[in-house]
Amino acid sequence: MTEEIINVNGLTKIYSGGVLAVDHISFKVYEGEIFALLGPNGAGKSTTIGMLNTSLKPTEGEAVIAGYSVKDEPSKVRSIIGVVPQEFSADEDLTGWENITLIGYLYGLPKEVVKQRAIELLQTVGLYNVKDKKVETYSGGMRRRLEISMGLINRPKVLFLDEPTLGLDVQTRAAIWEYILRLKKDYNMTIFLTTHYLEEADAYGDRVAIIDHGKILVIGKPDELKRSVTWDTISIEITGSYDSVKQVLSTLPQVKEVNFIDGQIMIKVVDGPTAIPGVVSAINSVGQEVKRLSLNRPSLDEVYMYYTGKSMRDESMSKEEAFALRRTLRRARS
Ligand SMILES: Nc1ncnc2c1ncn2[C@@H]1O[C@H](COP(=O)(O)OP(=O)(O)OP(=O)(O)O)[C@@H](O)[C@H]1O
Ligand SMILES: [Mg+2]
Repeated sequence: MTEEIINVNGLTKIYSGGVLAVDHISFKVYEGEIFALLGPNGAGKSTTIGMLNTSLKPTEGEAVIAGYSVKDEPSKVRSIIGVVPQEFSADEDLTGWENITLIGYLYGLPKEVVKQRAIELLQTVGLYNVKDKKVETYSGGMRRRLEISMGLINRPKVLFLDEPTLGLDVQTRAAIWEYILRLKKDYNMTIFLTTHYLEEADAYGDRVAIIDHGKILVIGKPDELKRSVTWDTISIEITGSYDSVKQVLSTLPQVKEVNFIDGQIMIKVVDGPTAIPGVVSAINSVGQEVKRLSLNRPSLDEVYMYYTGKSMRDESMSKEEAFALRRTLRRARS
């Protein structure tokens, strides 16, 4: 995972009307990794992905993908990437099979190759048995899976997924992730995705970049980011008094802080799982027993709050509601 495949340097987008959507961002993505761009509504995620997949022209700066410049060699870039946009783009009046083969022909692939890959991809995403049904009969999860298979018809080196699981139920989100992880494993594919689901970025992102107001605030592995802003907390109840263990706990090298809150000893440590044995034996060494123990590890939300001063959770709710509303309206119109 050391070969660099995307190199972004000072990339900037100002929309006509003067909206500064992406503000001089720079980062690298390495071959075979899942890179998650995490941020709230309007942060600039889709605009960033749009410039990388050449559907939007950068106002300033540069991005190079597998050696090709998005500015100077957009068609070369397009030939080696796959794109799954945020807005559903498949044709509702066509079948799944027609949609995916059409994309293959648009890439100029030979007929036989298109057919063979379409079969293989539809099988992979579990849609082969409904391939001859019109897309309008597909559920939200089936549509997403179809779009992902369409994005893969040219065997891309890099797959761009803009909010691949937005508005889907928990089970379908898990299924989509299964496919994404399989692509990474089977093809060593580089996956660049945007999401506002903190848990998904945390669980599946090899690295995460937090973006807000068009600026990247921090980039790193989820665990590193969490460790950089806050410590793990071990909560313990013991048989005896707090005073009897306070002294011995404070001397442990991993322990940063000890507090007594609501009958519980709260111990802030660098790395919870490796600190627990030492904490327990320190308590035992002064003749006390642990009655109950729990470990709380920080989430990416705490990282997000640290850098932006606000929680992302409240915003993601309103986003889901907006998405649901948009779908309802679209259905009502047709
Ligand atoms: N075509 C456009 N013209 C003008 N402003 C735009 C355009 N598209 C996006 N913007 C603005 O640019 C900013 C970034 O938008 P963008 O769609 O990139 O955000 P996002 O992070 O993808 O948001 P979301 O989570 O809603 O998908 C927002 O302020 C948005 O209103
Ligand atoms: Mg977006």
